[in-house]
Amino acid sequence: MLSEFPLKASFLCIPFIIALISISYPPALNAKITGPCANCHTMHNSQNGSPMAAYGASGEAWKVSGPNPSLTRGTCLGCHGIGTAKIVNIGGSDIPQVWHTDGSGDLAGGNFAYITGAKGSGASNRKGHNVIDLGAAYLEDVITGFPPGHDHGPTRDTLTCAESGGCHAKNSSTGIKGAHHQNVDGKCDVADKVYNSYRFLLGVKGYENNGTYKWQNKDATNHNEYFGATAPMSISSSSSPCTSCHGSSGWNPQNNTISGFCGMCHRDFHSLQGIGGSTSSPFKRHPADVTLKAAGEYAAYTTYSVEAPVARTVVPDAMSNVVTPGTDVVMCLSCHVAHASDYPDMLRWDYNTMVAGGGGSGGCFTCHTQKN
Ligand code: HEC
Ligand code: HEC
Ligand code: HEC
Ligand code: HEC
Ligand code: HEC
Ligand code: HEC
Repeated sequence: MLSEFPLKASFLCIPFIIALISISYPPALNAKITGPCANCHTMHNSQNGSPMAAYGASGEAWKVSGPNPSLTRGTCLGCHGIGTAKIVNIGGSDIPQVWHTDGSGDLAGGNFAYITGAKGSGASNRKGHNVIDLGAAYLEDVITGFPPGHDHGPTRDTLTCAESGGCHAKNSSTGIKGAHHQNVDGKCDVADKVYNSYRFLLGVKGYENNGTYKWQNKDATNHNEYFGATAPMSISSSSSPCTSCHGSSGWNPQNNTISGFCGMCHRDFHSLQGIGGSTSSPFKRHPADVTLKAAGEYAAYTTYSVEAPVARTVVPDAMSNVVTPGTDVVMCLSCHVAHASDYPDMLRWDYNTMVAGGGGSGGCFTCHTQKN
């Protein structure tokens, strides 16, 4: 269908002119998306009398819909859940995938296909966030109410990718609009708009892996860098100001950390009150946004592990394979992924294999190096 669009010779000059201009300027900070408009947009959702908004070729109902906001040829999952590879290239534009069967691994957020069973050890609603975009068959999470640890917010029946009820693009006036074309790559340390926040998560800072393994936590030297803090936010259950979470442009974590972001919905699992009132042991819940001590068993975690990543308290200029106990912090994503994994509670590893005194490694033992 795309081949029916005539490419005029004069259009072909434009990339050449842009290339010439960019020689005399420093590399662009904005990794704006590229490619013909028709790759991603349809003006009427119709050509030759057939709808054009249908990227998911295999016919799942949730991939075939339209017309869509911003005239896109897919819904969020229509473009990001095409089903085959973890990165799909359509006519020159790479699209990161969050629902796919690629045997070579997943992107950093995980893979919703573990919930549906298209990939992994079998379908289970316990393996991740049951976004409604997956369809009615995947709504039956045993967690029926508000997010565990909180008294309001979305439920399994309203949780979705973006905007209201979602995680991405929480800006209440713009939503996702404009984020893709302005996307800031690499260092995201402004985070006052959706496009300059880490992965379009409003208010979250971080460093996005933009090297060979873009969007991936591949190994010690190739991974996203997450932003953390030395103390979680103080949000008590009843008397806290609503502005701890609800900012003027939409809800976002006031401390700009990825754990604070999870804490917008899972308050007590993040907040200072929830972990026991202070950043010192003993805790009542496993802390996040608390420093790895430079002593004891934590001092031995010095090479970054993608099995239990740490967060940095300053957004770095580049990826690093070094962990610095005494400086780096534990975060929600040290143990969990964000979308779904092949394990219950969307953990990074099988919790059943974490056996004290059993000589194991990885997972909990990455930090608790003397409990094996
Ligand atoms: C028409 C296809 C299309 C649709 C529809 C679409 N996206 Fe994207 N998305 C892309 C492409 C292409 C990129 C890569 C952008 C880049 O490389 O800067 C991307 C990147 C992203 C990223 C990663 C940004 C980063 O930091 O690298 C997120 C998050 C995202 N999209 C979320 C969404 C959400 C949520 C929706 C639905 C509201 C959505 N997308 C709809 C094509 C699409
Ligand atoms: C720990 C973070 C947090 C705090 C504190 C908080 N909220 Fe919320 N609130 C949320 C989240 C997350 C949502 C879900 C937004 C969505 O789904 O788009 C939400 C949604 C809402 C909604 C929309 C209806 C709903 O239940 O989804 C209202 C109204 C609301 N909050 C009011 C308040 C008020 C009033 C306060 C202060 C008493 C408050 N919130 C404090 C996190 C918080
Ligand atoms: C690789 C995919 C992709 C290509 C190519 C692409 N767009 Fe988009 N565009 C999107 C997505 C996804 C959205 C909706 C989400 C958003 O705004 O972040 C969007 C939103 C828009 C919007 C509304 C938001 C804004 O940024 O103003 C306009 C206008 C737009 N595109 C125009 C264009 C034009 C014109 C072209 C060709 C010159 C083009 N796009 C090429 C993916 C693409
Ligand atoms: C917009 C609100 C929202 C945000 C933000 C959010 N969650 Fe959730 N989470 C939910 C809801 C609702 C459920 C229960 C329904 C479900 O599992 O789909 C849930 C369930 C979970 C579960 C249990 C999954 C299961 O089925 O057993 C884990 C683990 C989890 N979240 C971790 C996180 C982590 C880690 C983050 C941050 C990366 C996070 N959540 C951010 C709303 C949210
Ligand atoms: C990224 C590093 C990291 C990982 C992975 C990790 N922890 Fe921790 N854990 C910590 C830190 C840091 C503390 C706080 C220690 C302190 O300040 O005394 C802690 C504290 C604890 C505590 C004691 C709380 C207290 O009151 O002192 C327990 C129990 C614990 N972790 C269990 C686990 C288990 C079980 C796992 C695997 C599911 C795990 N941890 C994974 C870093 C980690
Ligand atoms: C040290 C590893 C670790 C860290 C860090 C961690 N979790 Fe968990 N999480 C677990 C484990 C293990 C479970 C399984 C239930 C349990 O042991 O309480 C779990 C369960 C959950 C659940 C499901 C609860 C339910 O009722 O099914 C949610 C939601 C969740 N975690 C959110 C978070 C959030 C949000 C953060 C950061 C503020 C976080 N977790 C940090 C290991 C961790």
